[in-house]
Amino acid sequence: MTLPAPMSAAPLDPQALFAALPGNYVLLAADADFTMVAVTDERLVATMTRRENTIGRPLFELFPDNPEDPAADGVMNLRASLERVLRTRAPDRMPIQRYDIRHADGTFEEHYWSPINWPLIGPAGAVTHIIHTAEDVTDSARRRQEVEAQLRDREAQLRELNSSLQQRVTERTLERDRIWELSADLMSVTNARGEYLAVNGAWTATLGWSEAEIRAANVLDLVHPDDVEVTRAEISRLDAGVPTLRFENRALHRDGGYRHISWRASPERGLVYAVGRDITERLRNEEALRQAHKMEAVGQLTGGVAHDFNNLLTIIRSSVDLLARPGLSEARRARYVQAISDTVDRATKVTGQLLAFARRQPLDPQVFDLKERITDVAELVRGLVGPGIRIETRVPQGACAVEADIAQFETALVNLAVNARDAMGETGRLTFEVDRVSHLPPVRRHPGASGDFVAVTVRDTGSGIAPEHLHSIFEPFFTTKGVGKGTGLGLSQVYGFAKQSGGEIDVESRLAGGAAFTLYLPRTLKAPAREAEPDEPRAPGVPVHSARVLVVEDNMDVGAFSTGMLHDLGYRTTWVTTAQEALQRLQDEPRSFDVVFSDVVMPGISGVELAKSIRRRYPHLPVVLTSGYSHVLAEEGRHGFALVAKPYSAESLARTLSGAIAAQG
Ligand SMILES: Nc1ncnc2c1ncn2[C@@H]1O[C@H](COP(=O)(O)OP(=O)(O)OP(=O)(O)O)[C@@H](O)[C@H]1O
Ligand SMILES: [Mg+2]
Repeated sequence: MTLPAPMSAAPLDPQALFAALPGNYVLLAADADFTMVAVTDERLVATMTRRENTIGRPLFELFPDNPEDPAADGVMNLRASLERVLRTRAPDRMPIQRYDIRHADGTFEEHYWSPINWPLIGPAGAVTHIIHTAEDVTDSARRRQEVEAQLRDREAQLRELNSSLQQRVTERTLERDRIWELSADLMSVTNARGEYLAVNGAWTATLGWSEAEIRAANVLDLVHPDDVEVTRAEISRLDAGVPTLRFENRALHRDGGYRHISWRASPERGLVYAVGRDITERLRNEEALRQAHKMEAVGQLTGGVAHDFNNLLTIIRSSVDLLARPGLSEARRARYVQAISDTVDRATKVTGQLLAFARRQPLDPQVFDLKERITDVAELVRGLVGPGIRIETRVPQGACAVEADIAQFETALVNLAVNARDAMGETGRLTFEVDRVSHLPPVRRHPGASGDFVAVTVRDTGSGIAPEHLHSIFEPFFTTKGVGKGTGLGLSQVYGFAKQSGGEIDVESRLAGGAAFTLYLPRTLKAPAREAEPDEPRAPGVPVHSARVLVVEDNMDVGAFSTGMLHDLGYRTTWVTTAQEALQRLQDEPRSFDVVFSDVVMPGISGVELAKSIRRRYPHLPVVLTSGYSHVLAEEGRHGFALVAKPYSAESLARTLSGAIAAQG
């Protein structure tokens, strides 16, 4: 090749010119070996070769493939490209090639190239030379490789994660399925329309229905008719997002019977997941146990009554026998009569407490401020306990009005205080605390309730109560006190009074840790009756002269005795044994009686009903009721009628009758 030399400059050496070109170029002859004709300096640096080893040598002799890389195909690709250029006489850009550079010491360095081959066309139109250039793209190629490798890694990781996730899901599902089918508890998934989407095998085992039968039913179809309403309410709560922690209803068995099921359920995205346990057997056992306990308690109760009354009757019996002996001195006679009277008082107290426990005591509820009463009671108790016992009272600010029978309330507190005294002995501290609360605690199987209550706590520092006794202390005749020391009726009265008044009694105690009994009574907003109001005008204890009494009493002995007593007291009496008879008598002779004296508990029309119809028909005829035990009186009160509690004394009977007549007249 020759270049024309410009006139003004020194002649150009074509080899020097080529060598100085900026860039990485090789000029190859278009011969069979692709002999290297010229090379740029940059190319020499890039390929770590020297010019004297390059010029005049076949290209591939100088740049063979890396023999350590069996996949090396650089030579083959380059040769193919060069031959393409010869054939097509057009430039050929090759894809990126790996072509490692050989060091002087014979080792190879990994390199990537982006080669282009250009034809140089001679005057005859044939390719005379080829300019070969290759940009070293090792850096960017490496980067791309790294990125690709990273991508591949990431993909592999993802693939692995995916497959292990799937495996875990499968395992978990298997686990769940196994538990679902193994469970003895009913499990179900239902939708908002109450349709069963899934039920486990326990449904069939427990209720006898096949899975298809259950799935064809609606949730409420299997519920006992009496439980449908509460179940519906529970479902609406679930629909509102409130989980069911405990709910019981009865589910229909295929055999027509019912099973008691205790449910837990949770709403989730429009579905309800429910687990139900068959508690039929447990309830049956509990009922049997309760019956057994009841029988035991009844046994203890009847035994206790018999025992106590036998003692009392023994005194009466022997006193009467002694009274019947001739030639008794006046003093002795008086002593025996007194003994009988005292014994009757004690017997009355026993029946009073039993009735209180049975909640059959006719109560006389009045509105009073408990805070004020507690001070009086504390005063009363001070006389009962020894000087070694400190009494403290704590009351809150504001009113603590309750509506309850004051006498029974005081008796209850005295019973608690006496127990505290017995538990403490000589020294200790007895505290009365009054508090306003807005709920009843859960006590003895009762779930508790909210509402306004006044709580009185009687706390002592005594011996405490053994855990095994805590369940029994309220039972009549349960006592741990020695013979003659306790009858076991104190707490029974407290219990009955609390319950009958719409309240509750709770106890907290540890052995050697004292005891705290809390009596809850419903709080009222009514204003307490003022102390100054007289109870009732006290009528004189003398009968209205020859007043005519219609006695209604179904018991022959009591009827005979009371008419006899009234006679002795100066009344004139007519005795009938039923309410119907009494009404007939009044209709026949409307003006022949001044007062009606009627028993409450009678077969047929009760004394209270009789009194009410007399009040309607003969508004001016007073009625006095008598009873020792009455459901009606206990629950409804005395409807404004005067009442003589059995057993009554002649004196109290006379006082009430003449009071009633006087009030009417
Ligand atoms: N404050 C208390 N500390 C320790 N034990 C108590 C306390 N209160 C009651 N008890 C236990 O409860 C039992 C029953 O009490 P309850 O008042 O019903 O009968 P009682 O005191 O034995 O006899 P009664 O009250 O009829 O004279 C007591 O015998 C005692 O064992
Ligand atoms: Mg007691």
